[in-house]
Amino acid sequence: MTGARLGAGAAPGKIILLGEHAVVYGQPAIAAALSIGLGAACEAHPVPRLRIPAWGQSGLDITLDGSRLDAVGRAFAAILAVVDPPSRAVLVTVDGELPLGVGLGSSAAFAVAVARAVADHAGKRLDQAQILAAAAAAERVFHGNPSGLDHTVCTLGGCLLYQRHATPRFTPLAVARPLDAVLAWTPRAGSTRQAVEGLRARHDAAPAQYDRLFEYMGALTRAGEQALAAGDADALGRLFDLAHGCLNACGVSTPTLEAMVHTARSAGALGAKLTGAGNGGAVIALTDGDSQPVHAALRTAGFQAAICRIGG
Ligand code: PMV
Repeated sequence: MTGARLGAGAAPGKIILLGEHAVVYGQPAIAAALSIGLGAACEAHPVPRLRIPAWGQSGLDITLDGSRLDAVGRAFAAILAVVDPPSRAVLVTVDGELPLGVGLGSSAAFAVAVARAVADHAGKRLDQAQILAAAAAAERVFHGNPSGLDHTVCTLGGCLLYQRHATPRFTPLAVARPLDAVLAWTPRAGSTRQAVEGLRARHDAAPAQYDRLFEYMGALTRAGEQALAAGDADALGRLFDLAHGCLNACGVSTPTLEAMVHTARSAGALGAKLTGAGNGGAVIALTDGDSQPVHAALRTAGFQAAICRIGG
């Protein structure tokens, strides 16, 4: 077929290694790109269309034909408007292993992968600022006024230190080597916003006590920065365990998350913690080496899980 050019794009998922929730109170957090993510393929098509076979009950198939759009459709339109305004006649198909809606950056990975695929199809070379702009437009559709952490990590990769109100807000971190880990996840009860608001209410009832806890969580993040720079997986695992205890004290863990953390530790993980907002969502278990026993134990216990690497 003449002109049947295929564009391709990919983006990693993201994970918060240390500092979630405390980051809302000014403490630093560390986020990392995951070795699992999403890929997008783009081809010419009479009307703009997006297909995501793995999302929704029987897959998503959205055509931008002037009819009312859901958030995914509006995010797709926002990406096209930034990346390729004159010619929007493309079919984009998105696929990948990244689980949806559990705090692993699926919406940001979607946006970055689609932006890259559409640009590639149009023969455009986007710089990082342009990809960030396209992804930010999509993330605003999904999340209103997001911090930018997810799409920044999904675009830049590696590990980043993030601190609100700091300049710069994102600092790339030196990582001695990528580390092996296992992810497990369970559906979330409520949104990130609800988890943050719940903790805000607990904080406001006893600010001095919570502020000390958040300061300690910030100190764990700083120690994590050292552990990553040294490639010290034992130290990072210990920090994960301590951080998980703090997040439990913050009231954002659940019996299922506790069971996943205990299962991973009993199977030999160097440390395990919930990641992101909590109230369900994902757990990360550091393995540094053979991830199979931890992965198998989580699967045997009935949890969804995947082997991955962080910091690559
Ligand atoms: O689970 P996620 O990726 O939505 O992460 C939320 C991180 C929090 O610190 C809980 C909230 C925030 O805005 O930083």
